[in-house]
Amino acid sequence: MVLFEGRVMKCLRWFAAATALCVGLSPSAHAAPHETLKLDAPKPRLALTPPMGWNSWNKFGCNVSEQLIREQADAMVASGMKAAGYNTLVIDDCWQKSRDGEGRIQPDPDRFPSGMKALADYVHSRGLKFGLYSDAGVLTCGGRPGSAGHEFQDARQYAAWGVDWLKYDWCYTGPRNPEAAYTLMAKALRESGRDIVLSICEWGSSQPGKWAGSIGHLWRTTGDIWDAWKGKKEWSHGLLDIIDMNADLWADAGPNAWNDPDMLEVGNGGMTTTEYESHFSLWAMLAAPLIAGNDLRQMDADTKRILMNAEVIRVDQDPLGRQGRRVWRQGDLEVWVRVLAGGERAAVLFNRGEAPADMKVTWEQLDLAPRLKAEVLDLWSGKKTRGVVGEVGGRVAPHGVIMVRVTPTP
Ligand code: GLA
Repeated sequence: MVLFEGRVMKCLRWFAAATALCVGLSPSAHAAPHETLKLDAPKPRLALTPPMGWNSWNKFGCNVSEQLIREQADAMVASGMKAAGYNTLVIDDCWQKSRDGEGRIQPDPDRFPSGMKALADYVHSRGLKFGLYSDAGVLTCGGRPGSAGHEFQDARQYAAWGVDWLKYDWCYTGPRNPEAAYTLMAKALRESGRDIVLSICEWGSSQPGKWAGSIGHLWRTTGDIWDAWKGKKEWSHGLLDIIDMNADLWADAGPNAWNDPDMLEVGNGGMTTTEYESHFSLWAMLAAPLIAGNDLRQMDADTKRILMNAEVIRVDQDPLGRQGRRVWRQGDLEVWVRVLAGGERAAVLFNRGEAPADMKVTWEQLDLAPRLKAEVLDLWSGKKTRGVVGEVGGRVAPHGVIMVRVTPTP
């Protein structure tokens, strides 16, 4: 069943990609007149810092059920993930099966026999928020019914079920204009009577950073993440490729409007522990939504240590909401800097190479006065050094990082 679905999905995605290529994805060329809508209600302020949560797709694909979601909700609380800040649980594709005679979207009755309201209630009872997935096309990427032509009906249904988050995908959209299609769903959600985060998933093709800020709370900037250090597999990209595609998008992001380099792969087994530390560190520098994508019921010590590193999370969640930048690059070595609230800085020394490297970040790169004294906290070792002036550095492991917070002191 899963295998079959996997194969069907590959064909469907290929078809969706080919359709997009044929029709072109120029943002404005194909706007249908009825889609030139204005948003009257302001965007609800639901994501002043990058959202944190869990999503079913990376680990479970179409293999979702109410039992799985209940168990993930329980594990989110029991593991400490909720206390660490992960507060939203999102069911990705394949929860939906059909529409009834009135056009109402129906969950798969075999996998969700108690219905979505009961499941949302359960998730809420664990103190978590509840999210669902749909698509702006006639079908979702997994071939389930999409929301095209049912936007207001679906938004009302989600609100009635108690949905707090909608991830809205871009398969089977034919010649639709992305900005117009996402505006329509944003309008439907804002008129639904419930505060719902809109997670735009258009894969970055039409530069959503240029138009999505007033429409959604976060927007995907790339195709799917692949649980691998680097490279490309069909429509998915390894870690280094995703980082490179996001490095220059910093100006688009800010409170309530975030670049989304896709969900986390930490704990899914395709990368080493060192590489997952780099993954998590770079997501924090990118002010990325931290959406875990692993099985929360079975986390080893390293997975927990990485996903619940409070200091790295604190960088991600910095209230200034300014995305970090790559300020220096030479061969396989990179220095990333993020300006934090209150004059603090975060820095990542990133070694993509195969040999250890001695690296440093200078006060000039951090945009700090040359003689300023600072306290430096190493966010992975926990080591604190006082009275540091001018630069800070160390030996960085292959594929690894040193990540520090630099706090100016009198
Ligand atoms: C697209 C999205 C993924 C996931 C799948 C579901 O590929 O980019 O994140 O939602 O669809 O089919």
